[in-house]
Amino acid sequence: MDVPVIRPRRLRQTPALRRLVAETSIEPRQLVLPMFVREGATEPVQIGSMPGVVQHSRDSLRKAVAEAAETGLGGVMLFGVPTSKDPQGSAAVDPDGILNVAIADAVAEAGDALSVMADLCLDEFTSHGHCGVLDDHGRVDNDRTLAIYAEMALAQAAAGVHLVGPSGMMDGQVAAIRAALDGADRTDVGILAYGAKYASAFYGPFREAVDSSLEGDRRTYQQDPANAREGVREALLDVEQGADIVMVKPALAYLDVLRQVRDAVDIPVAAYNISGEYSMVEAAAANGWIDREPAILETLLSIRRAGADIILTYWATEAARLLQHR
Ligand code: PBG
Repeated sequence: MDVPVIRPRRLRQTPALRRLVAETSIEPRQLVLPMFVREGATEPVQIGSMPGVVQHSRDSLRKAVAEAAETGLGGVMLFGVPTSKDPQGSAAVDPDGILNVAIADAVAEAGDALSVMADLCLDEFTSHGHCGVLDDHGRVDNDRTLAIYAEMALAQAAAGVHLVGPSGMMDGQVAAIRAALDGADRTDVGILAYGAKYASAFYGPFREAVDSSLEGDRRTYQQDPANAREGVREALLDVEQGADIVMVKPALAYLDVLRQVRDAVDIPVAAYNISGEYSMVEAAAANGWIDREPAILETLLSIRRAGADIILTYWATEAARLLQHR
């Protein structure tokens, strides 16, 4: 041959060369651990559909938060599992409600070593399981829900939260929460907004994790999986309304949306590697069908490569350890 063969393989010859030219990496500081805390639990309760994930007691939550801080994670995202639910989701705004108490516990435990975030949504607290309150026709009432989200933001702020995570996909939720926080002189509390959140079948295991009482679906507020452009629009609306970070959720089936959102906004972008994505890998690994640890790291790397600055993942603490020992 007169032309030399171009040899990209040259840079793949040794682990050192491969490390030198890696375009993407994952760092523990970019990982956020979602955690469930169950009111009244005295021991952690295993979640059957999410092997290795538990509903924490207040005690075990504190221990896991300390561990997360020691491993150098970026933060934790808290979800509450209350003992009683009602149509208005009252426990969400109660200062003694499980989520607000857990926020205070996590902040007391981690101090400034971690960013403490909390889900700001009504679905864990409503008897009907929807993310908002219902009107007389049983439809989710957007604007009445906004007023409750505003109150919930203030309760979470009072408990010491660093970032609230509105996940209900109500129109105007970021603006309503920002106005409430600012009006109460809490300009310091940030908003990690679920910008593009899709009505996904992959939330299945989460519904067990929070003892969801939902019947029906969330298709009148969560987005249609067919729509990528609309995901970008939702994210841009959140930026306009004052979001500090925007999130795309789920991650794996929406990597294209993640890339488009990353390119469209100039604030940090997060992605939520959700319950179903976790459980699929765990189930396949338990069957011996895939090699678990490389599958975890490859999953997280794909989300980083698609554009996520921050990843919420149930593997956060374990992945941080794997990264440190490589
Ligand atoms: C709603 C909420 C959901 C998840 C996080 N926040 C569930 C839903 O929209 O039904 C899903 C997280 C996961 O599946 O890991 N508060």
